[in-house]
Amino acid sequence: MEHCFLGLQAGCADHCDPIGELLTVHCSLCTVHCSLFYNLAMRVTVGVSGGIAAYKAAELVRALQRQALEVHVVMTAAACRFVQPLTFSSLTGNRVITSLWDDAAGGAGDTAAEQNGIEHIGEAQWAEALVVAPATANVLAKFAHGIADDFLTTMYLATTAPVLVAPAMNVNMWNHPATQANVEMLRQRGVRVVEPGTGDLACGMVGTGRMAEPDAIADAVLRALGRRHDMAGEVVLVTAGGTREALDPVRFLGNRSSGKMGYALAEAAQSRGAKVILVSGPTALHPPAHCELMKVITADEMREAVLKRMAEATMVVKAAAVADYRPVAVSAQKLKRTGPMTLELAPTEDILAEVVRRRRPGQLIVGFAAETNDSMANGRAKLAAKGADAIVVNDVTADGVGIEAETNAATFLTATTSIELAEMPKRQLADRILDEILALRRPRPLMVEMDEDDDLKSRQDRVLGDAVLPARRQLIVE
Ligand code: CTP
Repeated sequence: MEHCFLGLQAGCADHCDPIGELLTVHCSLCTVHCSLFYNLAMRVTVGVSGGIAAYKAAELVRALQRQALEVHVVMTAAACRFVQPLTFSSLTGNRVITSLWDDAAGGAGDTAAEQNGIEHIGEAQWAEALVVAPATANVLAKFAHGIADDFLTTMYLATTAPVLVAPAMNVNMWNHPATQANVEMLRQRGVRVVEPGTGDLACGMVGTGRMAEPDAIADAVLRALGRRHDMAGEVVLVTAGGTREALDPVRFLGNRSSGKMGYALAEAAQSRGAKVILVSGPTALHPPAHCELMKVITADEMREAVLKRMAEATMVVKAAAVADYRPVAVSAQKLKRTGPMTLELAPTEDILAEVVRRRRPGQLIVGFAAETNDSMANGRAKLAAKGADAIVVNDVTADGVGIEAETNAATFLTATTSIELAEMPKRQLADRILDEILALRRPRPLMVEMDEDDDLKSRQDRVLGDAVLPARRQLIVE
């Protein structure tokens, strides 16, 4: 840790090479402190297409600049009707590209008209990420079908950098099968879709189609740039969704799990460089790109899939809501209503406990606990009973969080620590959970307590072991 304190004291200059690569990637304090150095020289093109959310692209540019990224802006002709290019050239200090053929609407530039015809190639090569926000139905359709009739769409075809789109449109346009098919096609090609939110839309309707918040889009850009590539070499086996136990050919016993938390974990681990095997019960979700998906239905099938692949995994994260019981008998025909009925149920195998029994040295095993009462006591009991390294405890009765919700709050519980993870979008929580799982690999301090106001000297004085934890972590040593 001497390394990190050196970095902190020296403004981290010693830890960053001339092009801004962070040398010490495994120290959270240093990573936080060095993020400006780390992102330096990373280049992002923001594509703005014509929707009312175009004004929010200015906030996105600012959010990216706060991360010390260099930003260029490309606007479609329709976007220029909503926002002046001057807004973006003022923010970035760079000329805004508005056309393949001329520079009429540009801000500070003086490029000759004839040069623009090949400029898309230069811009495509310059950009380390292209993010289109807002992405209209029209732009998504053009991207999906390879139509290149303006600068942005031409650049999209010419770039090999990661591409992100943040759709924004009327709810009916978003739900239209044509748009959904285009988005799916783009996803299959590895384009990252920053999902639109649900709420009041500019058109007066209520529904899905509102562009994601600029900070969330900026986060996605940072992930796409691989800022956090701290899971390379890890193989993460994630279970997600609920399982279903058949009663007859048309009915089953199941639960309300949407799979969102597990899918967010899979996506987060994948974007941080891990190989991900996602064992999923039935869900309505799109599998994250580049994850290996194993679809299962019953608890037994999930058990079989997990046991088959767990030897490869360096981490097993069991976010699935697995059925605890299955009907003893499954009727071959649809059950008829014949008055009151008593079902006889038999317990399923506890997959998590079995994974712990079969673990190989070095494997990290993390479970979830969905609780409706006495969450912490139940979570601790589950941690002890199952023998996992950690349990992520959810109070699923809290308003707006947990099962089916877009956000979640949790407590990351280990035998000696309890870390509160406040309510946040599930994708963000997934990253926080992965941070804590990775932290399990670090050497443990004897006892460290810090808060935001500590000065560096007192932090050093109080480190008793050879590791240091980020300021927000609270250690409870019992
Ligand atoms: N789990 C499992 N196999 C089961 C049941 C649960 O692997 N048959 C895992 C879940 O994936 C989760 C953890 O165990 O990681 C806790 O699941 P939860 O449903 O909260 O608890 P249970 O163990 O089922 O106990 P209870 O339902 O009594 O609270």
